[in-house]
Amino acid sequence: MSEFVTLFEMGPRDGLQNEKTFVPTAQKIDLVDRLSACGFRKIEVTSFVSPKWVPQMADAQEVMEGIYRHPSVTYAVLTPNVKGYTAAKKVSADEVAIFGSASEGFSRKNINCSVAESIERFKPLLEKAHEDGIPVRGYVSCVTDCPYDGATPPEKVAEVAKTLFDLGCYEISLGDTIGAGTPETIGRMLDAVLTAIPADKLAGHFHDTKGRAIENIEVSLEKGLRTFDSAVGGLGGCPYAPGAKGNVATEAVLDLMTRKGFETGIDRAKLAEIADFARTLRSVDA
Ligand code: HMG
Ligand code: MG
Repeated sequence: MSEFVTLFEMGPRDGLQNEKTFVPTAQKIDLVDRLSACGFRKIEVTSFVSPKWVPQMADAQEVMEGIYRHPSVTYAVLTPNVKGYTAAKKVSADEVAIFGSASEGFSRKNINCSVAESIERFKPLLEKAHEDGIPVRGYVSCVTDCPYDGATPPEKVAEVAKTLFDLGCYEISLGDTIGAGTPETIGRMLDAVLTAIPADKLAGHFHDTKGRAIENIEVSLEKGLRTFDSAVGGLGGCPYAPGAKGNVATEAVLDLMTRKGFETGIDRAKLAEIADFARTLRSVDA
C-alpha cells in the first residue's frame, strides 16, 4: 500500500481572507461543503480573529454554523487568543490553530505583539483547549523570509516551533508566508527544525509567490514531512504580508503526490471542478 500524505485544505481561510470584496457567507459555505465531498480529511474553514483586522472573516460563526459536517473531516479554525478560542468552541470547531511568527516584524503587524508576548497570549488558550480536549495546531510564519525583517535565521524558527510544540501543539505548520523560500533556504530551515521536532509532527505551508512552492514541497518530502497546506485554485494571501500571493494550489500538490506514488484520498476530477468554482470567488483586483 502506498504511503499517505495529508493535504490540509486552506482555501476557505487562507484562500479567502485576503479578498478585497466580501465573499457572501453562502458562497463560503458552498466552498466548504464542496471540499467536504471531495475526500479531504482536514479543512481550515475560517478565522475567529478581530473583524477590524480581517473583515473578510467577520462571518466566522455563520460559516461554521452553516456548513455540513462530514463525519470524516476535521474542521479547523484560526484562533489568536482566548476570545477567538471561546467563539470557536461555541460552534464546535474540531480543532483550532494558533499562529505565531519567527520574525518580530511580522508578529507585530499581524497580531499586534512581539513573539514573546504572543507566546504568553497563547498559553491560556492552550490550557483551555487541553482541558476541553480540542487539538491545537501551531503555525510559525516567515520561516525563511519576512516582509519587514528580511531573512529569518533557521535557529529562530526552530526555537519558536519547539516552544509551541512543547506547549502542546500537536503539529507545527511551517509557513513560507510570502513565498520567498527556495529549496536551499527551506532545506536549511528544515534541518534546524528537525533537530527539535520529528518530521511527522511538522507540516509545510507554502505560498507560491515566486512559483517555487512545488520544489519546496519536494525538499520537504525528502526530509520526511507528510502533511502539506494548500488552497484549491491557488486562492490566497495574507493581508499583513505585502506581496504574499496565494497558497500553492491543491491541484498542483495533488498531482505531485500522485506522480510520486503517494495516496491522498482526494478525488482529482471533483477537485478540478472546485478549483473552477473557487476562482469565481476572487475579486478582480485581488
Ligand atoms: P489587538 O487590537 O491588539 O487586540 O489585536 P485587542 O485585544 O486590543 O482587541 C482589539 C479589538 O478586537 C477589541 O474590540 C476586541 O474585542 C477585538 P473593540 O473593543 O475594539 O471593539 N478582538 C476580537 N474580536 C473577535 N475575535 C477575536 C478578537 N480578539 C480581539 N479573537 C488581534 C490583536 C490578535 C486580535 C488582531 O491583531 C487580529 O485579529 N489579528 C489577526 C490577523 C490575521 O488574521 N492574519 C491572517 C492570519 S495569519 C496568516 O495568514 C499566516 C498563516 O497562513 C501562515 C503563513 O502563511 O505563514 C497562518
Ligand atoms: Mg498562509
